[in-house]
Amino acid sequence: MFDYDLVVVGSANADLVIGVERRPAAGETVLGSDLAVHPGGKGANQAVAAARLGARTALVARVGDDPHGGLLLDSLSSSGVDTAAVAAGGAPTGVALITVDPSGDNSIVVSPGANGRLTPEDARTASERVLRRAPVVSAQLEIPLETVTEAVRLLAPGTRFVLNPSPPRELPAELLAACDPLIVNEHEARVIAGDGPLGDTPEEWARALLALGPRSVVVTLGAEGAVTAEAAEGAASADPSAQGAAAGVAVNRVPSVKVEAVDTTGAGDAFTAALAWRLGLGESLPAAAGYAARVGAAAVTREGAQASYPTAEEVEAL
Ligand code: RIB
Repeated sequence: MFDYDLVVVGSANADLVIGVERRPAAGETVLGSDLAVHPGGKGANQAVAAARLGARTALVARVGDDPHGGLLLDSLSSSGVDTAAVAAGGAPTGVALITVDPSGDNSIVVSPGANGRLTPEDARTASERVLRRAPVVSAQLEIPLETVTEAVRLLAPGTRFVLNPSPPRELPAELLAACDPLIVNEHEARVIAGDGPLGDTPEEWARALLALGPRSVVVTLGAEGAVTAEAAEGAASADPSAQGAAAGVAVNRVPSVKVEAVDTTGAGDAFTAALAWRLGLGESLPAAAGYAARVGAAAVTREGAQASYPTAEEVEAL
């Protein structure tokens, strides 16, 4: 029996958000709305999203000993996330400067601050208390790559590792091989593939990424849903008429739900959290991705990242 359903290793940021009519081009100044300060960061967002859905969740992270750190800890605690492995101090809390346009699209610049000081030693400290006490561990890349790699090395045998490599960079083979799944959008897919061929369709991207070594791949497509790819052996629910089991790979297209987007910030984090949680419950990859797409859709209908995340009841009602 596990103590947690999901453990997240990752960042925590104060999101400084300004609504704009148009996101500025290089050299341009635009006027925007009043400033809003929200709890964010891809790691904290994943942890809060999972907890709001009902998952027992813990976060391994680092915040500053400052008011932004307090904002993050309050949001995590009030959402039910275990913060015993959230260290404080060493640098200011990470900050994300975010502009959101009327279509709900955003541009983000992150100052990592304390996230950049989350060390492999912090992961080792969290190992017995948290990291090895969940069936699934997820991570992103707003923290040092060596900390993510160390967290993977510390996992108990059989633990499933889920990675959203955002912001993207080329990944070492050891890390790629641990991903089950690797979750990417189109931009992230292109960076992870490097100079390698990716193909023209999301299904081809997923196949190309799978060939790089991860155990499974999810390509997120925003309002268009997602594509999953995994080894055909043991892959559940592939539709043999439309999918690609022929080459030993099961590829599935997962639809999303049509919603009116208000703010897409953090929707990808909600998708990843929901997917990781459902995989830990034993769902197949396509089924978990289908549920996650609904969670992501719900998240874009409200402002902010953590503030926008739905409960399980709200997902059912969607
Ligand atoms: O994915 C959204 C998140 O990216 C924001 O909350 C911001 O903090 C940045 O980390």
